[in-house]
Amino acid sequence: MTNDRRIAVLASAVADQIAAGEVVERPASVVKELVENALDAGATAVDVAVSEGGRAVIRVSDDGSGMSRDDATISVERHATSKITSAADLVGVSSFGFRGEALPAIGSVSRLEIETALADGAGTRVRVAGGARVDVTDVARRRGTTVTVESLFYNTPARQKFLRGARSEWRAISDVLTTMALVRRDVRFTLQHDGREALALPAAAALRDRVAALWGAPLAEALVAVDDVSGPIRVSGLVERPADVGTASRRVFVTVNGRAVRDNGIVRAAEAAYRSTIPSGLRPTLLLEVELPAGDVDVNVHPAKAEVRFRDRWVTERAVERAVRRALGTEESVAAFGAFNRGAFDLSAAPGTTLEVDALRSPLTAPESPLFDSARADQAAIAGGAPGDAVPAAPADEPIVVPPLVQLRRTWLMFEREDGLVLIDQHSAHERVLYERFMGALDRGETPSQTLLFPMTLHLAPAEAEAFEQNRDLLARLGFDVEGFGGHTLVVQSVPMPHPRFDAERCLRDTLASLAGDRLGSGLARHERLAATVACKAAVKAGDALAPSEMRALFLALAGTTLPAHDVHGRSTIVFLGWDELERRFGRR
Ligand SMILES: Nc1ncnc2c1ncn2[C@@H]1O[C@H](COP(=O)(O)OP(=O)(O)OP(=O)(O)O)[C@@H](O)[C@H]1O
Ligand SMILES: [Mg+2]
Repeated sequence: MTNDRRIAVLASAVADQIAAGEVVERPASVVKELVENALDAGATAVDVAVSEGGRAVIRVSDDGSGMSRDDATISVERHATSKITSAADLVGVSSFGFRGEALPAIGSVSRLEIETALADGAGTRVRVAGGARVDVTDVARRRGTTVTVESLFYNTPARQKFLRGARSEWRAISDVLTTMALVRRDVRFTLQHDGREALALPAAAALRDRVAALWGAPLAEALVAVDDVSGPIRVSGLVERPADVGTASRRVFVTVNGRAVRDNGIVRAAEAAYRSTIPSGLRPTLLLEVELPAGDVDVNVHPAKAEVRFRDRWVTERAVERAVRRALGTEESVAAFGAFNRGAFDLSAAPGTTLEVDALRSPLTAPESPLFDSARADQAAIAGGAPGDAVPAAPADEPIVVPPLVQLRRTWLMFEREDGLVLIDQHSAHERVLYERFMGALDRGETPSQTLLFPMTLHLAPAEAEAFEQNRDLLARLGFDVEGFGGHTLVVQSVPMPHPRFDAERCLRDTLASLAGDRLGSGLARHERLAATVACKAAVKAGDALAPSEMRALFLALAGTTLPAHDVHGRSTIVFLGWDELERRFGRR
């Protein structure tokens, strides 16, 4: 009789090694699992020491709960976990671990030693080699647990061959520890490599403090705080100021319900919030923490728990985009000379404020700019104006107070505040104003246009005629009523009228030339690109002298935008120079 049975159940040691392949890819994954276990045990301090990039020794010590002898003995068995007891517990599981896989997986491919005690004094030592328990003995130690992993992959030579050099494994370990330290800034961490201290992080109160400890205070101070709630989703964290993007190496850190994850969708959504504030191709530093109801996210979809699945990914991503965009609309995101004086940028500090009603003021006001918020209602009171005198610049009808403005070199508007000097680039600012107005027009179709008494005729180059055909519908929505006469001739019947100095013919020509030349905003959608191009061509230029009423109108219109501090090319519209910085430069401090 032939034996036609080909399927056999694997011996458990082999099964463990296969599972280990998924959980333990390299030394850094061992560090991650052991640190997560320490944190799950309630540690307030975690010390990690590795040698030779973790290939020789990995040791993680904690001051957490420790284990009883029975628990320590069973902890190295597969599916032995104290963290869940039923499948239902998986929903909303808040511990890092829940599978009971990590210690047996690590033990099956290394020499593993666990020393642990529930209280200072009598403890237990469990040793495992290549998946087989060696012994369980007494040991004296303080409360907590120390896990030592030696000779990783010594019994799986094929896996060992795949390890990179010590340097690259070490880098991966330090990345893992950095991530854990950002997730749990309430915990003190140290990291040593070959006996040298690489990280020493005291417990920190806030994410910004931990970032300062990791990467330096200047970087931490320059980041913009994100904090926003959309329905059941909360998004918080720190993101890079648009003006700084591209100046230092980019860092990305995302957590979902307190778990660090790789999630390109969330990163892309956050990057989308930077559209029109940075040149396409530049990638901002992002540290984002997303919290949503436990039932809306599945954490058990990846062997190393590095990914999660959202019940509604679209809603989550929109919440992230909105939160970041709001952060970029705040004063914190304004570019500054030298050290930025965080939290000090408050327009209410403008001395000698006046109230003006301006005919030129943009009729389109966006509700979401916190940058100028502080200059609203309460300042009217400070300025002594009766509420009736104030300019209703926001839909909420709260007045914005316009400080005295000075034009410098026909290029910048300057005003003084209690804490420093503010410069606004008139062209960039106007461009931002018009861009948002044109985007509103494209979304809602509400640009007032003017019929020309004498229709104007334009003769176009072939590429420009093509650009016109491609954007014809959008141009019409912007208020350009144009007829194409075959060939390359256009007859323009009516044009938008964004401001009195607007030169419609020149704007249309320049826009088509620019679209044909493909110069602006290659990372933007077609309508965004058109809005950006027309805004750029229609905006007042550097060199245009502005009347006081025009300056005030521009100030107010800028205050009504969602992203007042950034133009549509990735440049700043507003720059702040604090008195403290100026004093430093003059040696007064
Ligand atoms: N540092 C530690 N302090 C206290 N108990 C620990 C420690 N490390 C492990 N344990 C105990 O050992 C058990 C097994 O740990 P292991 O990492 O293998 O599984 P897990 O954390 O439950 O799940 P996962 O495989 O998802 O990490 C844990 O559930 C916990 O009870
Ligand atoms: Mg674990």
